[in-house]
Amino acid sequence: MENQYKRTLITTALPYANGPVHIGHLAGVYVPADIYARYLRLRGRDVKMIGGSDEHGVPITLKARKEGVTPQDIVDRYHKIIKDSFEELGISFDVYSRTTSDIHHDTASEFFRHLYDNGKFIQQTSMQPYDEEAGEFLADRYVVGTCPHCGSERAYGDQCEACGTSLNATDLINPRSALTNAPVTLKETSHWFLPLDRYEDALRQWILEGHKEWKPNVYGQCKSWLDLGLQPRAVSRDLKWGVPVPVEGAEGKVLYVWFDAPIGYISNTKEILPDTWQTWWKDPETRIINFIGKDNIVFHCIVFPAMLMAYGDNFQLPDNVPANEFLNLEGDKISTSRNWAVWLHEYLRDFPGKQDVLRYVLTVNAPEAKDNDFTWRDFQAHNNNELVAILGNFVNRAIVLTHKYFEGKVPAAGALTDDDRAMIAETEAAAKALTEAIETFHFRDAAKYAMEIARIGNRYLQTSEPWKTAKTDLGRTATVLNLALQLCANLAVAFEPVLPFMSAKLSKMLGIGKLDWDMLGRFDILAEGAAIAQPELLFEKIEDDAIQAQIDRLDRIKKENQIKNFTPEPQQPDVDFDTFMKADIRVGTVVECVKVPKADKLLKFRIDDGMGGRTIVSGIAKHYAPDDLVGKQVCFIANLPPRKLKGIESMGMILSAENADGSLVVIGPTGPVAPGAQVK
Ligand code: MF3
Ligand code: ZN
Repeated sequence: MENQYKRTLITTALPYANGPVHIGHLAGVYVPADIYARYLRLRGRDVKMIGGSDEHGVPITLKARKEGVTPQDIVDRYHKIIKDSFEELGISFDVYSRTTSDIHHDTASEFFRHLYDNGKFIQQTSMQPYDEEAGEFLADRYVVGTCPHCGSERAYGDQCEACGTSLNATDLINPRSALTNAPVTLKETSHWFLPLDRYEDALRQWILEGHKEWKPNVYGQCKSWLDLGLQPRAVSRDLKWGVPVPVEGAEGKVLYVWFDAPIGYISNTKEILPDTWQTWWKDPETRIINFIGKDNIVFHCIVFPAMLMAYGDNFQLPDNVPANEFLNLEGDKISTSRNWAVWLHEYLRDFPGKQDVLRYVLTVNAPEAKDNDFTWRDFQAHNNNELVAILGNFVNRAIVLTHKYFEGKVPAAGALTDDDRAMIAETEAAAKALTEAIETFHFRDAAKYAMEIARIGNRYLQTSEPWKTAKTDLGRTATVLNLALQLCANLAVAFEPVLPFMSAKLSKMLGIGKLDWDMLGRFDILAEGAAIAQPELLFEKIEDDAIQAQIDRLDRIKKENQIKNFTPEPQQPDVDFDTFMKADIRVGTVVECVKVPKADKLLKFRIDDGMGGRTIVSGIAKHYAPDDLVGKQVCFIANLPPRKLKGIESMGMILSAENADGSLVVIGPTGPVAPGAQVK
């Protein structure tokens, strides 16, 4: 079932350097790619894993402008954070470079120039949003205005974040420039287009006929694009940040970010293999695999392949594009702009030494066939119930017993029983299923089959009870522990792609030098008499408070977002001054507060109002505990007619503000005030 290619080039989508990477990126692209790369290396295959930061594009210039720094400052900052955190997570790139490098600018320029010189582009003029005051064309993101769908006044030219609708800049009502606030006009500009329609037949043939084995989500998206018919696509933009268009008369124009970024895969290969990179791109015996998220499918399956076809010169197309769907976080879409994410660098800070836990949870929950949800409770459960209770527990028991009965040396195996042979057969079957799963990009299944091997081990110890036979038949105990240790060695191999840190630790404990995928399913990996080190803890329980701290953080972010996106109610009709003055608003001090029995919303207050005191019943029990307000000063309307609530006479109304999330916050003076003072 192993493929016959000579080498495999694994590419991973280049993340935008406008923010750190989060668990969505990891689950969708980098963890699966790393599993695949590590697996191939264990098989002794020739493999390179290519990555890098995507450092062009409008979001980066927007962020720079917002912070008052240069785009280069932004990409320098995030490239470093991204690169360092990938490394710490054990993502085993052969190169992690960046698209602001000289080699990339040269490679992308040359690519454009080659297509240009060979007449592969068409030039077209169109009307584009323009800011007269700044003298600049505006990318869609730089146009703001009123959303034609929901009326929000803060819609962007590509999307309204209030109602989620995708827009064109020309759809907006009263479009203004985000640079100067000047009204947006339209101005004619000329750009180069790659006529994708010229490649439609070849793409159809290649994907729809030639790659029926691709994942249904990928194949399906390609088919619907192709069925709609392809249009010419602009490959240049009127922008300052990017790779300059390398032809005469193109001042002020750069390559569209989606034109230059995928060429980054080539530039980065060149960077590490200056002499042999062409073999990795042009030899039909190279197998190219693109790991990406679903929003990148059209670029990797249609646009970039069309660019490569246009270039010619034997550039190879990907053999597979195992794109994943999206990972959500606690039920909501992950979003960099809303800070709704678990950021890798923060995870590494909050859970030091627990790289494998994140890798494991993101693998067993990977959004392979549909969107999936990450929750902190689920993260804790996978760690405590699987990594600790199944994998860690099995390895620990096997090694502890070896030290207890055989002085830490691999005991000799005697004759095998039917149970032993059954266990070996189960392990072989799990190993075979594991290999098959990785070969077909089913990494969730792969992690499950690997864990199945640990389950087999636990069951085996449970039924063969080597601690009991030790009293009657030490030879039997020796056989069982020999096999149990061989199973541990199998686990070091089986889990290496997913849990490389655990695997290294376990290999060291078992005294295994170099791992090899061919060890899998074998029970002669460890030689009789070989020394086993003292057991080290492979995984530790994650306690509730660590999880609660993460959940609290997300709750805070949700609140902040609600406040940020709050749209106040429209203002009430005017009221004349005398009418307003009739409301007698006073300050009082809360002297006592109790819950009203049989009413879950009501609190009963005793207020010092400077006039002998009064009782007020208020519907804020969901937002305050009775003790919270005792001793505090509040504002209340004093001259409302008395009202009976649950049999209690309420003499007024305590004022509170309704917050963006619907919670109520009581209003009081900002400094001490004499009880009974009037609010004017
Ligand atoms: N930066 C893009 C994204 O995050 C991915 C670019 S992939 C490449 O969606 F192929 F263009 F490099
Ligand atoms: Zn809207």
